Amino acid sequence: MIDELKKEIEGARRSFVHELEHIQSPEKLAAVKERFLGRKKGQVSLFLARLKECPPADKPAAGQAINELKAFIEEALAGAARAAEAPAGSAAEWRDHSLPASELPVGREHLIADIQRRIEDIFLQLGYEIATGPEVELEDYNFTKLNIPEHHPARDEQDTFFLEGHDDLVLRTHTSPMQVRYMLAHPPPLKIISPGKAFRKDDPDATHSPCFHQVEGLLVDRGVHFSHLKGTLEAFCRSFYGPDIVLRFRPGYFPFTEPSAEVDISCFLCAGKNSDCRVCKGSGWLEILGSGMVHPQVLRNCNIDPEEYSGFAFGMGIERVAMVKYGVPDLRLLYENDLRLLGQFG
Ligand code: PHE
Repeated sequence: MIDELKKEIEGARRSFVHELEHIQSPEKLAAVKERFLGRKKGQVSLFLARLKECPPADKPAAGQAINELKAFIEEALAGAARAAEAPAGSAAEWRDHSLPASELPVGREHLIADIQRRIEDIFLQLGYEIATGPEVELEDYNFTKLNIPEHHPARDEQDTFFLEGHDDLVLRTHTSPMQVRYMLAHPPPLKIISPGKAFRKDDPDATHSPCFHQVEGLLVDRGVHFSHLKGTLEAFCRSFYGPDIVLRFRPGYFPFTEPSAEVDISCFLCAGKNSDCRVCKGSGWLEILGSGMVHPQVLRNCNIDPEEYSGFAFGMGIERVAMVKYGVPDLRLLYENDLRLLGQFG
């Protein structure tokens, strides 16, 4: 209550400063005075009237904040009135240069960058390194080394952007080729996440975009089991979505993991208790990522002996997180850069 009131008082102070700066005539000055100091409906009086609702313990602090606002306004108005009485000059002389400057709007990170950073922060705490790689990728790394066979439909020109004149290069269709790059360059043990852009020949609609963002995860070491994957994703999801989140692993298929699992989290809004829930649509579960144990053939393709080492990998879409966690209904909104949308996440 007191915090709210203080925020409102600060808001009133700012709008007063803003209005005062734009005053051009004595009539306007009188109007501003009335609006802020008027006996009945002035902003200060309205605040004072609300003191009654304040819990007794908060009253002194609230009263003080209101009185400070009143003193500030009185002083600034007196200054403005003095300036008005001074020998006539240009309208610019109405400015009181002793007033604090009105604040410039402050920007913030785009929601996609913000989510990416939050995900990175959690995995950094779990001891992961961040590794990034190229968006133009060898077809070999994007598909072949990941055990995606020649005839797999994902290679079809429908889905993949090939580079004209370079039939060994593609715009990566997922961040998984970073698994290959990293394993080829670093002997295990290794533990990375790799955020970045991915591209697919999809027509834009509410849930598809030809360019989107993913975060890949990879851990390879001796004796890595499926339980390590579960524990890691559980730790991540509880930290990111909330401490009471429950995970559900469903059998899935990816050529580069075996076994593979699609992971759902329990709905963080209704926990499955609301059949009309706007987040999970009543199902109680939200699909959030793909994962699995690194396929032995992928390890072999990257010169790692699957008899000695094992690992897990996972990949999640950042746009999907934005839609699930922040209720963004259409991912095209994320690319329009409309400040009315972007300003909502703070
Ligand atoms: N690359 C997969 C995708 O784009 C996700 C994934 C990553 C699945 C790692 C398993 C392991 O859908």
